[in-house]
Amino acid sequence: MKIAPRNRTIQLPRDEQSAYKKKLLTLTNHCTRKQILDRTILQDVHAAVPFLPSQFVDLLFLDPPYNLTKQFRSTTFAAKSNSEYAQWMDSWLAPMIRLLKPTASVYICGDWRSSSAIQSVAEKYFIVRNRITWEREKGRGAKANWKNASEDIWFCTMSEKFTFNLDAVKLKRKVIAPYKINGKPKDWDASAGGNFRSTHPSNLWTDLTVPFWSMPENTEHPTQKPEKLLAKIILASSNKGDVVFDPFLGSGTTSVVAKKLQRKYVGIEFDETFASLAEKRIALAEKEKTIQGFRDGVFWERNSL
Ligand SMILES: C[S@@+](CC[C@H](N)C(=O)[O-])C[C@H]1O[C@@H](n2cnc3c(N)ncnc32)[C@H](O)[C@@H]1O
Repeated sequence: MKIAPRNRTIQLPRDEQSAYKKKLLTLTNHCTRKQILDRTILQDVHAAVPFLPSQFVDLLFLDPPYNLTKQFRSTTFAAKSNSEYAQWMDSWLAPMIRLLKPTASVYICGDWRSSSAIQSVAEKYFIVRNRITWEREKGRGAKANWKNASEDIWFCTMSEKFTFNLDAVKLKRKVIAPYKINGKPKDWDASAGGNFRSTHPSNLWTDLTVPFWSMPENTEHPTQKPEKLLAKIILASSNKGDVVFDPFLGSGTTSVVAKKLQRKYVGIEFDETFASLAEKRIALAEKEKTIQGFRDGVFWERNSL
């Protein structure tokens, strides 16, 4: 298939897939922390979790299939009733609690349909601290409904003791009315590119672009998260050297961003092509450390970089 010149989607030719596949782990015995750090596990989450060590996770990022019928290459996730979705979630979350440090933070992604089930299950195990809503630019129009253009990310912690690096996740916004006192900017900076202010990050995220074909991070994965989204979460809720765990790794975004931000990572994904793609992205992150939309320690407004 001919690819358009500006299409930067990461490809995984067959020979590369078999090379990256060799890097994947499949667990059959209990493992130590050392054996799994900075690795991708090719396995069903239910099968892998019992072999993982206790209390190795500082930050858990959960991006399971949402409660929609959706094809993920080799498997199809079938939409369920709300209570069945909650039961399914509980089936993999309950055994995962053992893996978390008492200071761990947890983020759980969903859409409006799965959010109530997520909240009810999360409240069983965690202190639920917030629900972030991110406005997607893309969304499918509906004839007799509001277009769904948002997703939720539930922010939880294991206890009252947790990391939150506020200064690392401030947002850079253009100043519309540059107010001055005695001729000096009030809470904003003038630069050649315009006037900007660093603001406290809210639970409404409007600065994220869903990866698309001309972005260098884009892959063929149907529900890939933007690297910038993971960067916010990882910077806010972990420190350098901490362990970030993603048991629904997909195309590898969490591990890639963890690596770029000098965290350790562990990922689980049961589709061999996606898991190999994740390994390819992790290898690319050896050289390419930039995160689109995040520069000089600052998160910029959508499409401003
Ligand atoms: C919503 S996607 C995650 C996308 C990911 N955050 C990214 O940026 O690419 C969910 C992923 O979980 C995988 N998955 C679904 N059920 C699984 C299971 N039981 N065990 C392991 N992986 C699973 C799917 O193959 C899919 O790639």
